[in-house]
Amino acid sequence: MSASQAAKKQGGLAGVIAGESAICTCGLGNGLNYYGYAIEDLARNCDFEEVAFLLQYGELPTSKELESYKEKIIASRALNENLKAVLRAIPKTAHPMNLMQSAVAALGSLEPESDDFKDQDEKIIRLLGVLPSVLCYWHHYANFGREIDFNSAQKSIAGYFLEKLELQAPSDEFIKAMHCSLVLYAEHEFNASTFTARICASTKSDIFSSVAAAIGALRGPLHGGANEAAMHLIEGFSSVEAAIDGVNKKLENKELLMGFGHRIYGTGGDPRNALIKVWSKKLGGDTLLFKVSEAIENLMKEKKPNLPPNADFYSASAYYFMGIPTDYFTPIFIMSRVSGWCAHIKEQRANNKLIRPSSTYIGPEPRNFIKITQR
Ligand code: SDX
Repeated sequence: MSASQAAKKQGGLAGVIAGESAICTCGLGNGLNYYGYAIEDLARNCDFEEVAFLLQYGELPTSKELESYKEKIIASRALNENLKAVLRAIPKTAHPMNLMQSAVAALGSLEPESDDFKDQDEKIIRLLGVLPSVLCYWHHYANFGREIDFNSAQKSIAGYFLEKLELQAPSDEFIKAMHCSLVLYAEHEFNASTFTARICASTKSDIFSSVAAAIGALRGPLHGGANEAAMHLIEGFSSVEAAIDGVNKKLENKELLMGFGHRIYGTGGDPRNALIKVWSKKLGGDTLLFKVSEAIENLMKEKKPNLPPNADFYSASAYYFMGIPTDYFTPIFIMSRVSGWCAHIKEQRANNKLIRPSSTYIGPEPRNFIKITQR
């Protein structure tokens, strides 16, 4: 069977090359790279803003450029009254992913991008600055009826988000862990939400519509929603023994283990897993939650080596140890991946062709029409 026949059999565009991109290599010979820089180097050495700059402009910033970029993001944090009114109308029962999508769609109405897209870079910086404020403003209003401000001494998105969520200064260790997670989640080639953003951008739609569409794709548990689902899996076990027993049962019942498997990474594994696991261990290595996580990872390594843990599995426990509510895990993915989505939107716009594939028809043969009075 040829590769394209196998791809057709697998479905989901598996194995199909859907275009060219200079932004990321994902799972190819030289592993995961953003514009040629290895994810290991970026995750161990960079603030998230350095990587967001790389994705937005194609080069790592100088110290001066980074300083100026951070200042622009800080200046983009505040919500205006209209956006606050939209967020106050969203009940606390709403899923935070729908909240984030509503806020981005509202920005498309309240602060529209210019028709010629000449302000796309400003809009990208606005999204980087405002998204942590959106989640935290809504969190405090919907749950406690209080309105937060957007002033902070925190110079980074990581520190600012953690501070505004808890309304107290986060530890340096939490900030470093969050920087690493945001770097790891920033970009991943033609994943489902990024490809959604490209499709939307290819119709010459605006950046807010393209990002709102991508958020819709990211929400699903087969994609970004897996970090939330992995947390529910792990915390559902009261002991290591129960976890081993429970996972074996799930495998026997052919149930999906959230946080494992990947369309691109096979037995070689997801390079991001080891990098975020370091932080999960640092923050909570002596807890039952971490021990259960490791037990599940080891069992899967033994029973399903072709289903390695992906970036979501240890992100779950790392976020838990930082005190983040589980249904905020995927919104954090948005705060990071918005940098990758926008890199792809810019790239698509720079050399655009409407994305419109074909399908193999499997429906009925042509047939005669019968009027409703005769049916
Ligand atoms: C992300 O694409 C990206 O780059 C995404 C991402 C990014 O950074 O953007 O990396 C982020 O989305 C990571 C993936 C998060 N999703 C999960 O953790 C959900 C659980 N994983 C599975 O749903 C699955 O592994 C997918 C969706 C991630 C990939 O699935 P594929 O490539 O479509 O493969 P498949 O579903 O056809 O599975 C092949 C076989 C099946 O068994 P058979 O029907 O052949 O007997 O493997 C099994 C599947 O049932 N399988 C699993 C499994 N994943 C696949 N069995 C148990 N647990 C799993 N997690």
